[in-house]
Amino acid sequence: MKNDWKAKGYVDEPIDENIDLAKEIRRMCKQKNAVVLAHYYTEGAVQDVADFVGDSLALAQQAAKTDADIIVMCGVHFMGETCKILCPEKKVLVCDLNAGCSLADSCDAKDLKAFIDEHPGYKVVSYVNTTAAVKALTDVVVTSSNAKKVVDTFPKDEKLIFGPDKNLGNYINSVTGRQMLLWNGGCHVHGQFSLEGILQLKREHPEAKVLVHPECPAPIQQLADVIGSTAGLLKYAVESEAQEFIVATESGILHQMQRRCPDKTFLPAPPEQSEGIGCQCNECAYMRLNTLRKLYNTLKHEWPEILVDETIAKEAVKPIQRMLELSK
Ligand code: 13P
Ligand code: SF4
Repeated sequence: MKNDWKAKGYVDEPIDENIDLAKEIRRMCKQKNAVVLAHYYTEGAVQDVADFVGDSLALAQQAAKTDADIIVMCGVHFMGETCKILCPEKKVLVCDLNAGCSLADSCDAKDLKAFIDEHPGYKVVSYVNTTAAVKALTDVVVTSSNAKKVVDTFPKDEKLIFGPDKNLGNYINSVTGRQMLLWNGGCHVHGQFSLEGILQLKREHPEAKVLVHPECPAPIQQLADVIGSTAGLLKYAVESEAQEFIVATESGILHQMQRRCPDKTFLPAPPEQSEGIGCQCNECAYMRLNTLRKLYNTLKHEWPEILVDETIAKEAVKPIQRMLELSK
C-alpha cells in the first residue's frame, strides 16, 4: 500500500478511461468471491452494481449470512465495523475510510461511559449508527427498522438510556409510552430539512404523501403520513396507491424509489437554505464518498480494510447479535 493512499484513506490510483467499471467490478467479485453491499443512500451507480442494496438492518443481516470471503460495504464506517464484528474471519473492505457519520460522531465512547456511570441500574440501547466502542458499552443495538420492536421487549419499568439520536429516541418514547433517557445526538442531514419548504411543496402537491425518516426533528415528523427506516419508506412508496411523494430523508433513496415505481413522482424534501451555492444538504457527504471508481480500486487492491480491536469486538458483537435475534 502506498503511503499517500494511507494518508488519503482510499486508493487513489488512476483508472484507464476505457474500462467498463461496472463490468470489471462484477468480474472481480466473481474471481475473488466478494460481495458488494450498498446502503440506499449511496449514489445510483453504486446501488446498481451491488449484490445487495438495503437499510442498516438488512445490510447487517446480509453480512451475517454471506458465505463470501470478502465483503465490500458501500456505506459508512460504522456499517463496515458492524460487518467486521459479525464476520471477524472475513475481509471487510470499504471504498473510503473518510466515510464517517455525524450521528456516530455525536457519541464518544468515553462520554457515554461517564453517562452510564452516572445512571446506575439503566440498560443501554444504542442505535446502530455508533462506533464499535460505543456498541461495546451497549445492552442491545437497534436500527430505525426495529427500534420499537426491540425496545418493547424490555419490561415496562426497565430504566433505559437511548442514544445517540435524540429525534429517533423521542419518536420511540412517543410510540412505546416510555421515558428513556436520551443522548443529545443527531444527524446533520436529517436535521437540515426545512419545515416551511415541505409545507410549500405540500401546498403545490396537495395529494402527495409525506415520507419521513425518524432521524428528522419532531416538527418534520408531525407532517408525516408515514415515519420509517429507508426500507420502510420504500415499502410504503411501492405499496401506496398515491402517485406523488415528498421524501424527507437522504436523497439517495429516491434512486431506488424511482426504479421500483417508474410511474410515480418523488420530490426530495428541501433542506434549509444554506449559504453554500448549489448546496445539496439532503445528500450525506459521507455516503457520497462511495463511487464506482473507488469501489473498483478497493476490490482491485483489497484495501481499505476495516479492522476492529479484538477486545472491543468481543463485547460489541453481543448487542448486535441480540438485535439480530430479536429481529427474526
Ligand atoms: P436506515 O436504518 O433507515 O437505513 O438509516 C440509516 C441511516 O444512516 C439514516 O441516516
Ligand atoms: Fe450518518 Fe446522517 Fe449520513 Fe445517515 S445520513 S450515515 S445518520 S451522517
